[in-house]
Amino acid sequence: MSEVFCRCLSTLRLWDPSFRMRGLPNYCLCCCVNTLLQTFSATWELGDLLDKWDETGVRTDDRNVPLQLKKVLADMRKDLAQPAPHHDFLRCLDRNSLRLNTQHDADEVFLTILNLTHQQMDNRSLAVEIQNLYKISLETQLQCLVCNSMQTRASYLLSLPLHIKEDHNSLGGCMTSFFEHQELTGINCCFCEQCGKKTPSKQGVKLLSLPPILCVHLKRFRNSNGYTRKLDCRVTFPEIFDFSEIAKEAFSTDFAQNDCKYTLHAVVVHSGYAMFGHYTAYVHHRVNQRWYYANDSHVKQASWKEVQSTYGGYRRDTAYMLMYRRGSKQEGQQPELSG
Ligand SMILES: *[C@@H]1O[C@H](CO)[C@@H](O)[C@H](O)[C@H]1NC(C)=O
Ligand SMILES: *[C@@H]1O[C@H](CO)[C@@H](O)[C@H](O)[C@H]1NC(C)=O
Ligand SMILES: *[C@@H]1O[C@H](CO)[C@@H](O)[C@H](O)[C@H]1NC(C)=O
Ligand SMILES: [Zn+2]
Repeated sequence: MSEVFCRCLSTLRLWDPSFRMRGLPNYCLCCCVNTLLQTFSATWELGDLLDKWDETGVRTDDRNVPLQLKKVLADMRKDLAQPAPHHDFLRCLDRNSLRLNTQHDADEVFLTILNLTHQQMDNRSLAVEIQNLYKISLETQLQCLVCNSMQTRASYLLSLPLHIKEDHNSLGGCMTSFFEHQELTGINCCFCEQCGKKTPSKQGVKLLSLPPILCVHLKRFRNSNGYTRKLDCRVTFPEIFDFSEIAKEAFSTDFAQNDCKYTLHAVVVHSGYAMFGHYTAYVHHRVNQRWYYANDSHVKQASWKEVQSTYGGYRRDTAYMLMYRRGSKQEGQQPELSG
């Protein structure tokens, strides 16, 4: 094992054979990566895409994130009693300068893994397909309040960063706020080409398209006066989220998607404080359609009520990232027979 991993390899508990989901041992601070791997595994579209890849052309395989991701996701699918080995994946992240002996932000690590996968995949069409799985296309509009001229710029995000208020929030409310217009005045005035000077303006973000997998990042960590604190406040989220419930202003006129219903399939949970915490995941099983709770090598069945206990407000175990899949019902698939 590489020297960066601490020596606190947790003892593996006995594995209950009735659970058909593999846990991942915790090598010190890799709970963040373990949790993300569980959510990637629950996003089976990703593993299915990686399976289409013929990786024989990859030479530096111990540094190749998509290759190691493909391997670890395949191992996690095997119906075996022991937690899945993932040293190679951790070592690979380490070789790509993602140090595992420090606390990480799950959203940052999620974006880094997707970014490295995109960069290091030699099959470019597949790299694009993987990115499109998560790609939220946006249009930023900046309108001058003096001459009314409008500048627009297209951009995209792979996870939607939602600001949360210090009291009660709902996912729909946070989304609506994300797409609300902001007036930029005073020192925030922007340069208008028509007027030839800085003018007050109105800025807004609109949705151009939604991806098959929607990742939402609830921004619970806030910096103030040089230190980071965690907002434990309540954010409710439904099992099925319908975009038609958010304000119409959120959509660009070019938005053309009929089915805007999304079904939750994974939740990244952060427990504890900003500087000292632990990540775990609730994931929906592809085959038996039940919720499971993955805490490193421990995996147990869970209920929707337990998932809802991560809304926050009174407990320190709070949902931090939500993964939704397009469609209003989970599409169960037959178990794959392995071995
Ligand atoms: C590249 O990806 C496409 C899917 O985008 C797949 O059909 C094709 O087989 C892949 N080719 C190789 C060499 O992996
Ligand atoms: C992904 O990596 C490239 C190259 O290092 C960098 O320019 C780009 O900003 C990164 N994108 C994200 C979203 O981190
Ligand atoms: C996760 O498991 C550890 C034991 O390995 C335990 O101490 C901790 O309380 C568990 N966390 C949660 C949130 O269940
Ligand atoms: Zn103007």
